[in-house]
Amino acid sequence: MPQYLVANWKMNGSAEFANRWLADLGRKSGSDRQVIVCAPAIVLGNPAVVAQAQNAGIALGGQDCHAESYGAYTGWISAPMLAELGATAVIVGHSERRQYAGERDGDVAAKARAAHAAGLTAIVCVGESLDERQAGRAETLVEQQVRASLPDSTTVNNTLLAYEPIWAIGTGQVAEPADVAAMHDHLARVCSDLGLPGLPLLYGGSVKPNNAGDLLALGHVDGALVGGASLDATSFAAIIDAAPKGQASGVCA
Ligand code: 13P
Repeated sequence: MPQYLVANWKMNGSAEFANRWLADLGRKSGSDRQVIVCAPAIVLGNPAVVAQAQNAGIALGGQDCHAESYGAYTGWISAPMLAELGATAVIVGHSERRQYAGERDGDVAAKARAAHAAGLTAIVCVGESLDERQAGRAETLVEQQVRASLPDSTTVNNTLLAYEPIWAIGTGQVAEPADVAAMHDHLARVCSDLGLPGLPLLYGGSVKPNNAGDLLALGHVDGALVGGASLDATSFAAIIDAAPKGQASGVCA
């Protein structure tokens, strides 16, 4: 399996920023690593950005989608709309959506199903809060999220599962490699139990150039979902370079 290096720009960037970023990053995708940039819709809608990403072998993704394809949902964007812009992936269930938009596992599953129906790879996010981890409930809660957030349309070819402990997001407080390894081992077992052995598992939460090598070398860590450090092309390039060499082609190449 290749390593998946996913940039989540969140509500940052512009077409001009994206063009410069792509030029600075250079060609980093290959058969052993799949780079996906999840950018605001204004960036995905820029033809020069789409062309430049294509030339660099970089896939583009959205950061959320509605569960419906169209309708009276002011301010939303649907999965087919993202696909029309040239996106091949979309993040669903990010903790910031769960926290600020009140999304629950059932909503996330509906969005992932919509993404699949539109031919997009769903990057489904799960993760526990600090209180939940300190109470020793992290694995149980994350397992519940996984079981309820993955729709029955999920296959190992249309979904990436991202474990992002909420307390590690944007805090600089990266999870201990041993804890990441334990969670990913658990998630691998859960995925097998769901009939999805080999579903790619990504880690996210304060991934930086100086910790990416250790995290990406762990068993059942098939890539990283990177927020803050992905806004700097040099930092993101260093994270890509830190990934061990994998094999075969990616799910949204
Ligand atoms: P940071 O890398 O800034 O911690 O963000 C992680 C994240 O939320 C990616 O989706």
